[in-house]
Amino acid sequence: MPTVASSPSLIQALRTETAELHVALEKRLPFFSAGLDLELYRRLMTAYYGFYQPLEQRLHVLSLTPTGLDQSRRIKLPVLRADLVALGMDDAAIEALPTCHALPEIESRTAALGVSYVLEGATLGGQILRRRVAEQLGLDASSGAAFLNVYGELTGRRWKDFLDYLGDRNLGSAQTLEVTRAAKATFTCFERWLDCQEVLL
Ligand code: HEM
Repeated sequence: MPTVASSPSLIQALRTETAELHVALEKRLPFFSAGLDLELYRRLMTAYYGFYQPLEQRLHVLSLTPTGLDQSRRIKLPVLRADLVALGMDDAAIEALPTCHALPEIESRTAALGVSYVLEGATLGGQILRRRVAEQLGLDASSGAAFLNVYGELTGRRWKDFLDYLGDRNLGSAQTLEVTRAAKATFTCFERWLDCQEVLL
């Protein structure tokens, strides 16, 4: 049976549907604010942790990770946790951090693709953010800013592999809608969470 060609392509749909949400969040994140100091950066990373921790767990424990993708190598939480330790937090303090309960719904592997798109794409902007954090705060991978460069020199390669994976999906319009809906929900939930953690401008 012929597969239904996704039209527009899945990646194009994801970009179109999430572009505004990306711009809005980017504007509110304080990375480029003059007020970015070590304390704000630490609060920001703990807020990131509070979102990534339950979201990655949900993706992995529920086995909702897109099959065929090297997802185990895409887990970012241990690096984020190591940053928090480098920034002075101990295990007990990390365990006690608030975590987000209003996560995007992930009811299928298809929806999980949309969540993964957002988490993977965030590694691209991370390349800009890590430079800013190095300049402004003097932090590098060993002193609390490893998460912003979580894939290191593999960043471009991993993103290309992810796009190839998306490109091979051949989803119909209903499934494409499911993916974009999950991606949009991921941006929205993340922004709301960061907002209620009072780390946004
Ligand atoms: C101030 C913060 C941010 C900046 C400056 C930034 C910047 C960028 C830039 C420059 C790109 C394009 C990179 C390229 O094409 O090589 C990008 C892509 C992307 N970013 Fe961000 N970003 C930020 C935060 C975030 C956050 C918090 C998320 C999600 C949690 C995110 C999700 C994405 C996604 C999904 C893409 C891929 C877009 C595509 O399909 O090409 N970004 N970002």
